[in-house]
Amino acid sequence: MRTAEQPDRSGTRGCAVRVRGLNKTYGSLGARRQVLKSVDLTVERGEMVALIGASGSGKSTLLRHIAGLAIADRESGAVELMGRPLQADGRLMPGTRKLRAEVGMVFQQFNLVGQLSLLANVLLGLLGRVPAWRGSLGLFTRQEKLKALEALARVGIAEYAAQRASTLSGGQQQRAAIARTMVQRASVILADEPIASLDPESARRVMDSLARLNRQSGVTIIVCLHQVDYALRYCARAVAMFDGRIVFDGRSDQLTPAFLREIYGSDSEELCISSGAASLGGLDGLAPAWGAA
Ligand SMILES: Nc1ncnc2c1ncn2[C@@H]1O[C@H](COP(=O)(O)OP(=O)(O)OP(=O)(O)O)[C@@H](O)[C@H]1O
Ligand SMILES: [Mg+2]
Repeated sequence: MRTAEQPDRSGTRGCAVRVRGLNKTYGSLGARRQVLKSVDLTVERGEMVALIGASGSGKSTLLRHIAGLAIADRESGAVELMGRPLQADGRLMPGTRKLRAEVGMVFQQFNLVGQLSLLANVLLGLLGRVPAWRGSLGLFTRQEKLKALEALARVGIAEYAAQRASTLSGGQQQRAAIARTMVQRASVILADEPIASLDPESARRVMDSLARLNRQSGVTIIVCLHQVDYALRYCARAVAMFDGRIVFDGRSDQLTPAFLREIYGSDSEELCISSGAASLGGLDGLAPAWGAA
């Protein structure tokens, strides 16, 4: 693996995410495919890390294991969140419901309930925290509603609080998904291609909302991105996957075009160096290596 000027994270206690020796194999005899291969990853509290790599390299699978939505192979590795064990040796630790509630997920497909108002969608973030009967009846207190409204205001869409989620643009829905993680009081956000379906301006707003949450509230963020220019712009650290392994973990400004071509191979058009790069200030000041390409 290539690393670049990384602090020694080995043995760090109480970091936000710690993955050790994770293997994942899908399929049964004859058609088995190992999609995670001895993955080690440590993310400190308050970091914002880009996860990049070609389609099928294992990014979503890794995020799902960190969220406790997928379980690794038997006797293979471990995941800790906020210094507490989430899964080990192919088993989810008992009593991790609260721990998993600390993880907010943001997906490419906006995952809001279209028929509900934006405010109601954001209030769903409370489901892990309020008594089940109250949540299932949608009975939220005035203070909880104010908190949800405040979260919508922080991502700049409070004026749409009463509008049905399905009537809003992709970027607005994605910012509501981020507001929901605020109400959930997530310590870690795992965002799986949150801007893949958005135009450059909406993508910038969504990434700005994530970056602000990271900077102002210290929320740890791992964001899976196909658009490498956004990874360079927003994340000081990048982790690159190739065929189930982490092949780069270091400063994102040390990702070179040549290395990216290597990991994306014939799929290098997937780099999606979007027109958004120009409005982001271009690549020049961000990653000197790009200038030399
Ligand atoms: N539930 C599953 N059953 C079988 N194979 C799976 C399953 N989930 C993922 N895979 C396989 O694991 C590999 C990694 O998939 P994953 O979705 O993690 O890739 P990715 O890096 O997120 O790709 P993309 O950039 O296209 O989202 C792929 O070959 C995929 O087909
Ligand atoms: Mg994926």
